[in-house]
Amino acid sequence: IDIDYCIAGVRVGRTVWHSKVGKTSLIMSLVSEEFPDDVPLRAEEITIPADVTPERVPTHIVDYSEAEQSDEQLYQEISKANVICIVYSVNNKKSIEKVTSHWIPLINDRTDKDSRVPLILVGNKSDLVEHSSMETILPIMNQYSDIETCVECSAKNLKNISELFYYAQKAVLHPTGPLYCPEEKE
Ligand code: GTP
Ligand code: MG
Repeated sequence: IDIDYCIAGVRVGRTVWHSKVGKTSLIMSLVSEEFPDDVPLRAEEITIPADVTPERVPTHIVDYSEAEQSDEQLYQEISKANVICIVYSVNNKKSIEKVTSHWIPLINDRTDKDSRVPLILVGNKSDLVEHSSMETILPIMNQYSDIETCVECSAKNLKNISELFYYAQKAVLHPTGPLYCPEEKE
């Protein structure tokens, strides 16, 4: 199996306080096992070989950069993905709001209703806050059956990074949610 996944971002505007959520940093932290001080706008596509992944499947990771990619390129990546990680920043409320106002509808519009793409909600920068974002995230989890799981992590102190990629693999190989919901079609 080839797992594709697209780390879709929840960047809001270009103002400083709506800072970038850390998609590229997460990928680089996974690969190098240390937090990169400087990251490019978009990480190069990488394939993690089967023997170093928990589920023993080659995993293809695709970053997304609003600055470097067109909407059309984003839609193409979404349609190719087997699982999509939606990243928000736990210290940025607007980035959480954008998960439901922008990213989930955009992904649903671009994917076939009969074949659900599992979503993973990723709250990055957990090193910056003391409170968990779970209180805000749980109602979203309950509202959308496509969300397979959620995880809070930190690219900076490498917390839950390998877990995040493990959850993504698991969502593809052993999905827990219904892949087809007849009620939703009416
Ligand atoms: P775009 O590609 O521009 O949409 O941004 P991005 O989502 O790829 O974010 P990027 O990885 O470029 O990180 C944005 C900023 O957040 C950088 O200054 C990172 O150093 C910082 N950052 C990323 N992850 C973390 C984290 O876990 N904790 C902290 N404190 N800072 C982080
Ligand atoms: Mg980036």
